[in-house]
Amino acid sequence: MSDTVETQLTVVDVKIDDRLAWVTLNRPEKRNAMSPTLNREMGAVLDELELRDDVGVIVLTGAGESFSAGMDLKEYFRETEKQGALQVAKVRKEATDWMWRRLLHYPKPTIAMVNGWCFGGAFTPLVGCDLAFAADEATFGLSEINWGIIPAGNVTRAVAEVMNHRDSLYYIMTGEPFDGRKAAEMGLVNRSVPAAELRAHTEAVARTLLDKNPTVLRFAKNAYKYVKTMDWDTAEVVLGTMAATSASSDPERGRQKGMSQFLDEKSYRPGLGGYRRDA
Ligand code: COA
Repeated sequence: MSDTVETQLTVVDVKIDDRLAWVTLNRPEKRNAMSPTLNREMGAVLDELELRDDVGVIVLTGAGESFSAGMDLKEYFRETEKQGALQVAKVRKEATDWMWRRLLHYPKPTIAMVNGWCFGGAFTPLVGCDLAFAADEATFGLSEINWGIIPAGNVTRAVAEVMNHRDSLYYIMTGEPFDGRKAAEMGLVNRSVPAAELRAHTEAVARTLLDKNPTVLRFAKNAYKYVKTMDWDTAEVVLGTMAATSASSDPERGRQKGMSQFLDEKSYRPGLGGYRRDA
């Protein structure tokens, strides 16, 4: 991180290792509950990492035994509400801005690594990330019903994006906790692995993404998210336009390289792996 942002971070930690940014929610003593300060810092971190040349993929995780225990009941709700409606609106906006608005269409690949507790509001950035991996032993829960609120902060919308109707309603209505295996079975995360293997597994996938053409990756993942809610006719037009823009703005000229290495050089098979990017 540049000096300016890095020195301002108090409850988020950022470590960059060979183009992979490990972004850690860092309030382990509060189970990484998301306070207004944490949300503000996450906004600044995403702003900065988006434009850094030395960052290609972002992994979002939590310090200690938690991913995140959701919104901070004391700082995000009780203390903010004492400051009046305008402050509530400001604090909510800073939260939802990063938790889904920024993450959903972030230009770089994002992976949530759920290492432990993951409750309520934490489902929003979890689903906001492109991919998610969990420890088998992690504990998830839509716990809002257990303390008398509905899953707002776009949690319910996030859940509806990845989980089916029956599972969504069951967990929204019961607040029953579930583990990483169940999260994977329901499609809330891509896969769960034993906790001891979680970091290595996440890093391996992140490094696979780092090997891909970043321009095409950016257009590909955002195209998926945009067209998902479109009718087929509109989607075809949008995808055609995005494909053309992706090809014309790709400094690597991946399309030409891929085609020529397959058709002319016969040096690889696109069905089985990627073209040589350094050629
Ligand atoms: N908001 C505010 N503070 C929280 C918090 C939250 N969401 N989750 C945990 N904390 C705080 C606790 O108040 C406690 O603070 P203290 O040490 O000052 O008393 C500290 O974090 C540790 O929490 P504790 O409950 O003692 O830890 P635990 O390991 O026994 O249990 C959880 C962990 C996550 C199961 C439990 O803290 C919990 O249920 N948290 C709330 C989860 C939730 O419903 N979140 C949804 C919010 S939308």
